[in-house]
Amino acid sequence: MNSYKIALIAGDGIGVDVTESAWRVLQKVARLHRFELVGEWLPWSCEYYLEHGYMMPADGIETLRGFDSILLGAVGWPEKVPDSVSLHGLLLPIRKQFDLYVNVRPHRLLPGVAGPLRKEGFDILCIRENTEGEYSGAGGRIHQGTDQEVAVETSIFTRHGVERILRYAFEAARKRSGKLASVTKSNAQKYTMVMWDEVTDELAQEYPDVVVSRYHIDAIAARFVMNPESLDVVVASNLFGDILTDLGAAIQGGLGYAASANLNPDSAGPSMFEPVHGSAPDIAGQGIASPVAAIWSTAMMLEHLGEKEGANTVLNALEKATATFTRENMPTTEEMTQSVLGFIE
Ligand code: IPM
Ligand code: MN
Repeated sequence: MNSYKIALIAGDGIGVDVTESAWRVLQKVARLHRFELVGEWLPWSCEYYLEHGYMMPADGIETLRGFDSILLGAVGWPEKVPDSVSLHGLLLPIRKQFDLYVNVRPHRLLPGVAGPLRKEGFDILCIRENTEGEYSGAGGRIHQGTDQEVAVETSIFTRHGVERILRYAFEAARKRSGKLASVTKSNAQKYTMVMWDEVTDELAQEYPDVVVSRYHIDAIAARFVMNPESLDVVVASNLFGDILTDLGAAIQGGLGYAASANLNPDSAGPSMFEPVHGSAPDIAGQGIASPVAAIWSTAMMLEHLGEKEGANTVLNALEKATATFTRENMPTTEEMTQSVLGFIE
């Protein structure tokens, strides 16, 4: 029997509510498909920070290295700990240290969910660069708090980093419709983004079966709303991908529906799966957060672990569950979880 060690980091706010639901779903699927999941809850969060002075212990990354996958809820509770501390203490270091350079975010309408555009067939796969670019963390501040204050934050794009994310996206496009949209802002940013365009054009020679279109971030944002059916696989830098995937989430019905996988397809280290939404402290613990994104993320985890049938079981159950609720009758966290569990047979 295949056995997998899963690190469960519920984190903050509604991360706790939805990770609990997602873990129940995972356990039921494992029993059904006869594989074993050994979960370990790690209490790393803003509460943990207030107690210990750090978001995760100094050997946190080493601890995580022993797992096959990480299921993460959400990180951040700005009233307790500034986001600049919490996210740089937990979520972002995991992405960087395990070199999880691909962030896959599927945006598609689930059955029963209309989304604000009220259009059928919205289905875009976003591939976001996840370790460098605008999130490189290179910068500093001088003369802080004075009139002479200067803040610098440099976007770093390496050819290696750009090429590997584009290559992943070309491969993904090949597996879907063969259409790829590459996103930059090379009309304004003439170094990093022009290099990105050049690498896109170079790789396009290797993938003659993939039709590549280049868009600027502003234009593709409009296209997401006006003409989403013209898009299929979309690849973008870290920050552009971050913004576009909130837009994608909104169009698929809200942040509660958007799942994600942080992957390093070339490494044996753990990958991380998390809903795109944040910790939403205002509704934390009320039992009303949607667990859909977290549950969908578990399907992405199972697929990555090689448990394809398990992944399909989760997705099928999720689709049946969302189809049973209407906008007027929004389920609680528990109702949605029960509904998904009920369809796993
Ligand atoms: C996301 C989030 C994070 C990001 C934040 C919380 C740092 O918005 O996963 O999309 O920007 O990557
Ligand atoms: Mn985001």
